[in-house]
Amino acid sequence: MTYTRPDMTKFLFLAALLPAVALAQNTSNAVGGLVQHLSSIGLTNLVDVVTTVNQSNVGQSLLANLTNGEPHLLFAPNNQAISSSPSNITSDPGRLTDVFGYHIVPGNFSNASSHYPNVTLGRTLLTDPNLVHLEGENKAQVVAWAVRSDNKTHVLNQRNDSTVVDVSSFGNITIYVVDHVLVIPENFNATIPTNEESLTGIRTILQHVETVIFNDHTTHSIFNAVNDLWHGFTFFAPNNDAVVAAQDSFRSFSRNATAYTNVVYNHIINGSTIYSPLLSGQHFTTTAGENLSFFVNRTGQYLISGSIIARIVQPDVILPNGVIHVIDQVILNTESDSAAASSAVASAISAATANPTETQPIGSSQTGTSNPSGSGSSSGAVAGPQLNVLYNLAGTFVCVLAGVTMTVS
Ligand SMILES: *[C@@H]1O[C@H](CO)[C@@H](O)[C@H](O)[C@H]1NC(C)=O
Ligand SMILES: *[C@@H]1O[C@H](CO)[C@@H](O)[C@H](O)[C@H]1NC(C)=O
Ligand SMILES: *[C@@H]1O[C@H](CO)[C@@H](O)[C@H](O)[C@H]1NC(C)=O
Ligand SMILES: *[C@@H]1O[C@H](CO)[C@@H](O)[C@H](O)[C@H]1NC(C)=O
Ligand SMILES: *[C@@H]1O[C@H](CO)[C@@H](O)[C@H](O)[C@H]1NC(C)=O
Ligand SMILES: *[C@@H]1O[C@H](CO)[C@@H](O)[C@H](O)[C@H]1NC(C)=O
Ligand SMILES: *[C@@H]1O[C@H](CO)[C@@H](O)[C@H](O)[C@H]1NC(C)=O
Ligand SMILES: *[C@@H]1O[C@H](CO)[C@@H](O)[C@H](O)[C@H]1NC(C)=O
Ligand SMILES: *[C@@H]1O[C@H](CO)[C@@H](O)[C@H](O)[C@H]1NC(C)=O
Ligand SMILES: *[C@@H]1O[C@H](CO)[C@@H](O)[C@H](O)[C@H]1NC(C)=O
Ligand SMILES: *[C@@H]1O[C@H](CO)[C@@H](O)[C@H](O)[C@H]1NC(C)=O
Ligand SMILES: *[C@@H]1O[C@H](CO)[C@@H](O)[C@H](O)[C@H]1NC(C)=O
Repeated sequence: MTYTRPDMTKFLFLAALLPAVALAQNTSNAVGGLVQHLSSIGLTNLVDVVTTVNQSNVGQSLLANLTNGEPHLLFAPNNQAISSSPSNITSDPGRLTDVFGYHIVPGNFSNASSHYPNVTLGRTLLTDPNLVHLEGENKAQVVAWAVRSDNKTHVLNQRNDSTVVDVSSFGNITIYVVDHVLVIPENFNATIPTNEESLTGIRTILQHVETVIFNDHTTHSIFNAVNDLWHGFTFFAPNNDAVVAAQDSFRSFSRNATAYTNVVYNHIINGSTIYSPLLSGQHFTTTAGENLSFFVNRTGQYLISGSIIARIVQPDVILPNGVIHVIDQVILNTESDSAAASSAVASAISAATANPTETQPIGSSQTGTSNPSGSGSSSGAVAGPQLNVLYNLAGTFVCVLAGVTMTVS
């Protein structure tokens, strides 16, 4: 026993190593060709990145996927983008490999050209379990992009506004040259602004709304759940104006913790990360067990809960463990249905185990099936809000949850 163990370890180690070495040998010509092409269009800093990425098994596997002959979309940061990106990304090969994986989207997106607030989302090759905590096994993170009113394609959710400045192709790889290195989605706490006063409020207040984590039955604050304990959720976050407008209603039930918790829970779909193209024409069950349904008209994409109709003013704020859609009304629904809530969580868990490979825009397979209205994308002629809406989230939570603090104390 004592001497078989090291042999076994060695065997497993070699078994893990061999396929990557074989892949690297099979595809080194294809990678070499890609490198030559990137060089020829002036992306010499990206060539250095590829050389670094190519030095690990994980990186070789990414490059093997990218150059396997199937259609891929590659977001390719230009020289300026790479030289101005933070050194903690460029100087850490492991981090750089994750970042590179976030720039690769398997599939043919040539037909996808959404005008904001309609959004195109593709699933990348970023699966690092330290950075992605979506429902299901090894589900990869998504990247979102859209054409804004300046007619440029913008990658969404980036603090540095990142646009496609050139398009090129190499074999079946479509190359979108971008003017910034794309940043991998960060947790809720880091995604909301680094305004110390707001964060203090959020930290203090969110800790007073509790939830039971369904896989181990421990109780935690919703802040911790949203920040990292929930793996897969959709959160409809009212913007600051919405919360201010709802202050009187909040006061009317501020002494009833059940009602308050129900209102918060009616903003959340637990267990499923539902991006905007998957919403319209559909209905879902909230964490409180109430129905949320969605429709699109020429003004935009809306949700309905009881008598409340809210417009989604910023779709698809991507988190490592879920997604936020910013809405313009508080969902003042104090009702709950615990049986419906647990059944929704159970079906979300079973849906998460099915993990089909996605090589097309998320939601596009709904065309002609469950969504008779078409692509299932959001709609609207209204010019989309930019990052400032995201920044309003901080104010939002301070207001919403201030009521909870009153209730609890
Ligand atoms: C990638 O690494 C492999 C194996 O180490 C090597 O054969 C190949 O030349 C490298 N390719 C590039 C583009 O660096
Ligand atoms: C790359 O391709 C291999 C083989 O097809 C696959 O097992 C692997 O999961 C793919 N993805 C990444 C991110 O390397
Ligand atoms: C591109 O993909 C098509 C099928 O999708 C395939 O026939 C062709 O060989 C691929 N081209 C390259 C350069 O791999
Ligand atoms: C954003 O842009 C600024 C100014 O160019 C740069 O210093 C910073 O590193 C950029 N951040 C990223 C993530 O690229
Ligand atoms: C890198 O540093 C920036 C600040 O310059 C910080 O915001 C970011 O979170 C850091 N990223 C990582 C991966 O440590
Ligand atoms: C793109 O659109 C055309 C026409 O609508 C369709 O025939 C084709 O299959 C689409 N291509 C992809 C990759 O979805
Ligand atoms: C964007 O494109 C549309 C249609 O081609 C054109 O009417 C409009 O002027 C363009 N806007 C800008 C800012 O270039
Ligand atoms: C993507 O699909 C379009 C339309 O179906 C086709 O014309 C094009 O050749 C495809 N591109 C790649 C890289 O496969
Ligand atoms: C939230 O972010 C603040 C400031 O960025 C940080 O000090 C704090 O430790 C973070 N809290 C959690 C739970 O991540
Ligand atoms: C508190 O709110 C719940 C949920 O709306 C409701 O069922 C209950 O009757 C309320 N309790 C009081 C004392 O008003
Ligand atoms: C879309 O629906 C909303 C909510 O019912 C309504 O306020 C708006 O006027 C509608 N827009 C159009 C163009 O019908
Ligand atoms: C968004 O998608 C909807 C539904 O497919 C469509 O009706 C609408 O025109 C699109 N809006 C924009 C701005 O592209």
